[in-house]
Amino acid sequence: MPWLARAFLCALLKNLFKVSKRCAVAWAVRWRAECSDNPQLLSVVEAEMKTVFVLNGPNLNLLGLREPTIYGAHTLADVEQLCAQAAARNQLALRFHQSNHEGALIDWLHEAGQLQREGQLAGVVLNAAAYTHTSVALMDAIKGAALPVIELHISNVHAREAFRHHSYIAPVAKAVICGLGVQGYSIAIDAVAQVLLAPAA
Ligand code: DQA
Repeated sequence: MPWLARAFLCALLKNLFKVSKRCAVAWAVRWRAECSDNPQLLSVVEAEMKTVFVLNGPNLNLLGLREPTIYGAHTLADVEQLCAQAAARNQLALRFHQSNHEGALIDWLHEAGQLQREGQLAGVVLNAAAYTHTSVALMDAIKGAALPVIELHISNVHAREAFRHHSYIAPVAKAVICGLGVQGYSIAIDAVAQVLLAPAA
């Protein structure tokens, strides 16, 4: 077959493949729940989706037990489920983590930065918990990678002790959500998809 015909056929096949892959992904995203029992399909779908990181700082592993009058009765597992639902309805892959260690949070922010450089990051929802009020290192990690971060708190930190009114994260965050209980996580993921990822943002 002459080279021109071969090149034409190759281009045609590549484009056909791209279109059908896009259709398959759109279909699979819509029916993501069904493809969750097909790990291979799920990994193809997730590779095509941007990722939202939800990072939780110290003591948030104790949600449900810890000061329920302030933080409510929901556990961290409930929060993860809420986030999974929000990510799925916004066609985002979810990375959900909690650590009591500042360095672990920084390492995840660096991973988010790597995805950001690869064009695969949707955004980061960060509840740095007490580190919000103390951590220059978290602020530097966000600033250094120019990460699109939404700072999140379950409680209304401004209606609490004065030391909770200052945040090292807020000056480098795109937005701050606080006082909406665990529902704030869901709203933050919607905002990542609908505001941070929107063309005008
Ligand atoms: C918190 C508020 C912080 O002041 C506190 O240290 C936390 C939780 C919140 O989600 O309301 O641990 O970030």
